[in-house]
Amino acid sequence: MILVTGGTGLVGSHLLYQLVLKNNTVRAIHRKNSNLNAVRKVFSYYSADFETLFDKIEWIEADITDVYSLEKAFKNVTEVYHAAALISFNPKDNKAMRKVNIEGTSNIVNLCIAQKVRKLCYVSSIATIEKSIDNKIIDENCEWNIELNNYGYAITKHGAEMEVWRASQEGVDMVIVNPGVILGAGFWHNGPGELFTKIYNGLKFYSEGVTGFVSATDVVKVMIQLMKSDIKNERYILVSENVSFKDVFFKIADSFNKKRPSIKTTKLMSAIGWRLEKIRAFFTRKHPLLTKQSSKAIHNKHYYASEKIKKAINFKFEPVFTTIEAVCKLYEK
Ligand SMILES: NC(=O)c1ccc[n+]([C@@H]2O[C@H](COP(=O)([O-])OP(=O)(O)OC[C@H]3O[C@@H](n4cnc5c(N)ncnc54)[C@H](OP(=O)(O)O)[C@@H]3O)[C@@H](O)[C@H]2O)c1
Repeated sequence: MILVTGGTGLVGSHLLYQLVLKNNTVRAIHRKNSNLNAVRKVFSYYSADFETLFDKIEWIEADITDVYSLEKAFKNVTEVYHAAALISFNPKDNKAMRKVNIEGTSNIVNLCIAQKVRKLCYVSSIATIEKSIDNKIIDENCEWNIELNNYGYAITKHGAEMEVWRASQEGVDMVIVNPGVILGAGFWHNGPGELFTKIYNGLKFYSEGVTGFVSATDVVKVMIQLMKSDIKNERYILVSENVSFKDVFFKIADSFNKKRPSIKTTKLMSAIGWRLEKIRAFFTRKHPLLTKQSSKAIHNKHYYASEKIKKAINFKFEPVFTTIEAVCKLYEK
């Protein structure tokens, strides 16, 4: 029995689809208020027979911060894909991220050890890879430096990785994937999915920062291949290409036949922007659209190498523009 956490999110829903498509026996956890229809919707993008495929999943209510609920979910489980996480660039969420990302992962690891699970796959992020050296290609050997990665999400994803390495020390084989920005269909109102909605609705701003992008489908294909392989106790950057936000935004606009964003965001504009957003969020009690961290991130230029995974499993990533075209078509569908 395979257990999937985060199955109601972007990565998890694509993972569940690929797993049931290949007739695996799959159990997925969800929380009381999780939106299972969002998962159905993702399935519907890829198959006319989506209801039958969706019905193959055994859903069980559990929260990764609640050991008692997790124990039930772990019954007869032999493999675990752990994709659940809290993703936020708002410092107000740091405590909650610590709880979900570190403590939650620790709970998963403890149960993997107790149940003698065969293998664990953890979805981390490029946020945990060192990136201080300007313009140098970043690979898995770049050592983590807390001084340079001192924002909540990166710190808690790093802490979670440490928990997963502990599993390897205690007899559970594991693999970690570190994807770049994940582009995929569905979840159009949060995470990278929101980009498509914003550009469709006429977003005016772009920046010239550069980062690694990868498709959700490629991320989950790699995860499944790694779990099937003899590879263990390794981590892999998953990036198809390093592209500027400008090129990504323009490509999305072109694919929608919409006007390209026309205002280049400068560092000064971002600095003013996140402060204004902070005030707006305070008075409206809503999440800020830009935070100090994200306003800096959009100007960074980071280039990632994914040679390690390409060689390990002979994987060929889908080009980023091909992914964007496909995702835009599904958005309009
Ligand atoms: N999106 C990206 O660009 C990106 C890039 C690199 C790495 N990653 C990593 O990839 C993984 C999946 O990301 P995603 O984009 O799919 O995120 P997402 O769409 O926000 O989904 C997050 C998932 O985690 C679940 N979750 C959150 N807290 C939980 C808890 N306490 N107990 C149980 N489940 C909980 C959510 O369940 P509910 O439905 O109940 O909220 C949801 O299924 C994460 O580990 C993230 O750090 C994402």
